[in-house]
Amino acid sequence: MKIIRSITSMRNRIKEMRKKAKTIGFAPTMGCLHQGHISLAHQSVKECDVTVMSIYVNPMQFGPREDYKKYPRDLKKDVELAKKAGVDYLFVPSDKNMYPEGFSSKVSVTNVTERLCGASRPGHFEGVTTVVLKLFNIIMPDTAYFGQKDAQQAIVIKKMVKDLNMPLKIKTLPIVREDDGLAISSRNSYLSKPQRLRALSLYQALSKARQMIQQGERNPGKIIFKMKRLLRRGKFVKIDYIVIVDVPYDGSSHPEAFPYNHAWFFRVDTADTNYQNGDILTISGAPVNGADDVFSFKVDGINASLAQAELEDIRVVPDPYFGRASGTSPGWEASKYEHVIQFQNLPDKCSVRIYTISGDLVRTLDHNPGDGGTVEWDMLSEDRLSISSGIYLYHVESQYGNHVGRFAVIK
Ligand code: PAJ
Repeated sequence: MKIIRSITSMRNRIKEMRKKAKTIGFAPTMGCLHQGHISLAHQSVKECDVTVMSIYVNPMQFGPREDYKKYPRDLKKDVELAKKAGVDYLFVPSDKNMYPEGFSSKVSVTNVTERLCGASRPGHFEGVTTVVLKLFNIIMPDTAYFGQKDAQQAIVIKKMVKDLNMPLKIKTLPIVREDDGLAISSRNSYLSKPQRLRALSLYQALSKARQMIQQGERNPGKIIFKMKRLLRRGKFVKIDYIVIVDVPYDGSSHPEAFPYNHAWFFRVDTADTNYQNGDILTISGAPVNGADDVFSFKVDGINASLAQAELEDIRVVPDPYFGRASGTSPGWEASKYEHVIQFQNLPDKCSVRIYTISGDLVRTLDHNPGDGGTVEWDMLSEDRLSISSGIYLYHVESQYGNHVGRFAVIK
């Protein structure tokens, strides 16, 4: 196995390979290799003449409050593991080489990046797509391998490749798990023993969901309710999100998960989208057969206990607010003079009252049906005065109950 550090020499090697008509397989990673990464290398070795693996902790995909500096790095061990897995070239570029002074481009895939993990990590996926596109341009692989563990990432990459007509195949491989079921991850090394135990309830909740679907449950709300119960029992204090989605852009649907015996169908997934009273859903692109078509809709109405349980999902983003909400991308703050905090996952009609730690009311915000579950706060008091740094409390009042939380502002 050859370790290559510069883009120019990597390109030269690739040119040689191409001349010899070799097929190239590529597995991009951030190092601290484990069996999840190695499964990608194995697949590439099986399918391609030459396997390239990259190790690069990409600063552009980390937010300012994330773990870029302390992200685990162990090149010596990585070299051993990659060699054993049959990797031919280990590409380990430097920051200077990847992002030379004056670097100013960005690849942005919209729609699939704003939700799920993207909602709490503004700018993250732009960092991923930018670096992956750069790596693809350097390595020019026939096939690139990604893990299902980062399901949204794999979908975003597939979308980028499709949208930009990039001449390669993306393959997504199954999650490799520890013996007890926890997905292997470089970041698992951050967990203390009790945290590692608690993390297991994540796998238990996912297994429960799979079991319910296999047994015929088709109501995402019910599945999520059970999952949340298991996570809370497992002492998960903060759940970012749980959604059940059909996976787009992977070239195959999942007929066993959602069997339909109609020529065509559409499904409204209430777990994925925060529908509000008054929302208008437009059906487009369905092959309507003629005047005899009948559309029937069944609305279950609001499940009060589920609505109450979901008050727990209300969150403040970013928390802490640190100078700006933008991270590495513009986020939702259009200019540097604008400061915005979002309250997310709100019930259809509610008010959010923000208090100082000493109990003075700073501002009241209203959320109405049709507002999409989010209200933005411009970080001004009722008198339009700029607020100061500190801990703030908020109280959400709705017909389903109340929710109280706190957040920090560091300006
Ligand atoms: P990293 O977290 O190092 O992961 C590299 C690849 O390994 C990703 O495709 C990821 O999904 C896959 N992977 C990680 N753990 C896995 C597991 N337990 N089972 C199966 N596959 C697993 O993802 C990144 O790096 C970066 O965002 C990157 C794509 C390299 C861009 O910087």
